[in-house]
Amino acid sequence: MNVIAVEGGRTLQGELTVQSAKNSVLPILAATILCGDTCVIENCPRLEDVDASGAILRHLGCRVQWQGEDLIVDSAPLCRGEIPDEMMRRMRSSVIFLGAILARCGRAELSYPGGCELGPRPIDLHLSALRMLGAQVEESGGRLCCSGGKLRGAEIVLGLPSVGATENAILAACGVGGTTVITNAAREPEIVDLQNFLCKMGAEVRGAGTSTVTVEGGRPLHGCRHRCIGDRIAAATYLCAAAATGGDICLRGVDYRHLSTVTTALCQAGCRVSSGEQWIHLTSGGALRGICPVRTSPYPGFPTDAQAVLMAALLRSSGTTVFVENMFQNRYRHVAELARLGADIRLEGPVAVLYGVKRLRGAPVRCTDLRGGAALVLAGLQADGVTEVGEIHHIKRGYGDLPGDLRRLGAAVREIKK
Ligand code: EPZ
Repeated sequence: MNVIAVEGGRTLQGELTVQSAKNSVLPILAATILCGDTCVIENCPRLEDVDASGAILRHLGCRVQWQGEDLIVDSAPLCRGEIPDEMMRRMRSSVIFLGAILARCGRAELSYPGGCELGPRPIDLHLSALRMLGAQVEESGGRLCCSGGKLRGAEIVLGLPSVGATENAILAACGVGGTTVITNAAREPEIVDLQNFLCKMGAEVRGAGTSTVTVEGGRPLHGCRHRCIGDRIAAATYLCAAAATGGDICLRGVDYRHLSTVTTALCQAGCRVSSGEQWIHLTSGGALRGICPVRTSPYPGFPTDAQAVLMAALLRSSGTTVFVENMFQNRYRHVAELARLGADIRLEGPVAVLYGVKRLRGAPVRCTDLRGGAALVLAGLQADGVTEVGEIHHIKRGYGDLPGDLRRLGAAVREIKK
């Protein structure tokens, strides 16, 4: 079984182009089902979750193949509308296929995606949105059967701005005649990216990035070519790494506005950040200070996906930082692993109080989830000696080559066989 071995003590220098956004690519791969034609996802990141999506698309009958760095999906041969349990369990966000399958096939059958490392992952908002479009949804024995005999455009009001429910509602609405207005929609940049992809397909979607998205459904759709936005969470990961070790890095291929709450926090901690069209430059002396409370919230608030990596960056800061995790019930599982390296973080429900320590000591640790795993690697960059990070399949779900990217910035990080 492989581990990521991290030798602490290096500062990070250099330039890096950020991978395309995982959380754009996944809903866009589901959206390729809608057109029954060939789509090209340019510069697609090679991630476990992309492989899992490819396996689902192939199971549905689509042709999926890599051509260099581009992923080609031909959904013309799609011939089934059900996803087996083991495929649903492999990737929590596989529920994003529901709306697209319903739009294309008129019915969909899949199992509950189940909880994940972050806690229960309900899909009630997804299902209520589809019911508002006229879908019949039966749930039995962990399987969901959705049939859409009389699907039509509707007013959809989301109880909270769920990213996945917003995306499922948009994809389903593209396949039904009439106008659909989604209010209290999530505003993440990845939803704007999905809208741009759908419009290239010939769909009429507008308002993504605001709380109200309108879809004129039933348009004839065709294949297209698309390059996704840069991954703002991967970018946050590298900025936090350089902030913690001290260094001077420049990231390219990401919109600085998409992670302004993260760069603001890093500036509060003592880093200097400049940015421009598709680049962010950060310098840090490495000696960071505690910052104002970090409260995670839907975009444009502080992203829950960056909570763990910012925490890792502040482990040796002077002073104290309070984190409040408002998005997921169980998103502090990395804290116990960080404590094995000498971190001092006290948990009280959704609150984590981080007391900066002078030194961290390398030790064997295990990933608990995707972003928590990245945080362990960032902690290892700061620790005396070597830190071995196990269960690295979690990291591979969302980072194309975290060790390689950090090595390119001067870190001593490599994947080794144990
Ligand atoms: C997306 O997950 C992202 N995943 C997550 O990134 C991200 O953390 C999350 O949005 C929040 O930004 C992808 O885009 C593939 P939500 P999603 O629905 O859509 C509750 C990563 O690390 N909720 O916005 O599942 C839910 O329990 C991953 O890249 C309901 O109650 O998130 C959570 O508390 C992790 N009912 C909150 O809403 C529902 O029907 C936000 O969830 C749906 C969600």
